[in-house]
Amino acid sequence: MKHAMALLLAALAAPAMAADGAKLYTEKTCNACHGPTGNKPLMPDYPKIAGQNAKYAERQMLDIKSGARANGNSAAMKGVMHLVNDEEIKALADYISKLKP
Ligand code: HEC
Repeated sequence: MKHAMALLLAALAAPAMAADGAKLYTEKTCNACHGPTGNKPLMPDYPKIAGQNAKYAERQMLDIKSGARANGNSAAMKGVMHLVNDEEIKALADYISKLKP
C-alpha cells in the first residue's frame, strides 16, 4: 500500500507533458507573422526563422520579451511574448531550428 502511494505521488509530480513546440507555434500565433513553416513571413521586413540556431532564437525571444532587444519591428513581436513562458520559448526555439529554411 505504501509503495502504491509513492508511485501515485511520483506520477502526479511529473510534468503533464513537455512543451510541444509544433503545437505552441500555431497556438501562440507565431505562424501568423512568421508563416506556417517559419520561412514565409507576413511582411518583407519580418524575419524568416526556419532553421535558425536554437540557442540564438531562444536568446532573441527572451530579449524581445524582456525589452533588452527593442530594435526594428521588435514591438510587433513583443506583443505576443507574454503568451509564452521560458520553457515554451525553449521548446519553440528547438522546433523552429528544425524547420526547413
Ligand atoms: C505580430 C507578429 C509576430 C508574432 C505573432 C510573432 N513574431 Fe516573432 N518576430 C516578429 C518580428 C517583426 C520580428 C523581428 C523584430 C525586429 O525587427 O527586430 C520577430 C523576431 C523573432 C525572432 C528573432 C529572429 C532573429 O533572426 O533575430 C524569433 C526567433 C521569433 N520572432 C520567433 C517567434 C515565435 C516562436 C513566435 C510565437 C511565440 C513569434 N515569433 C510570434 C513578429 C512576430
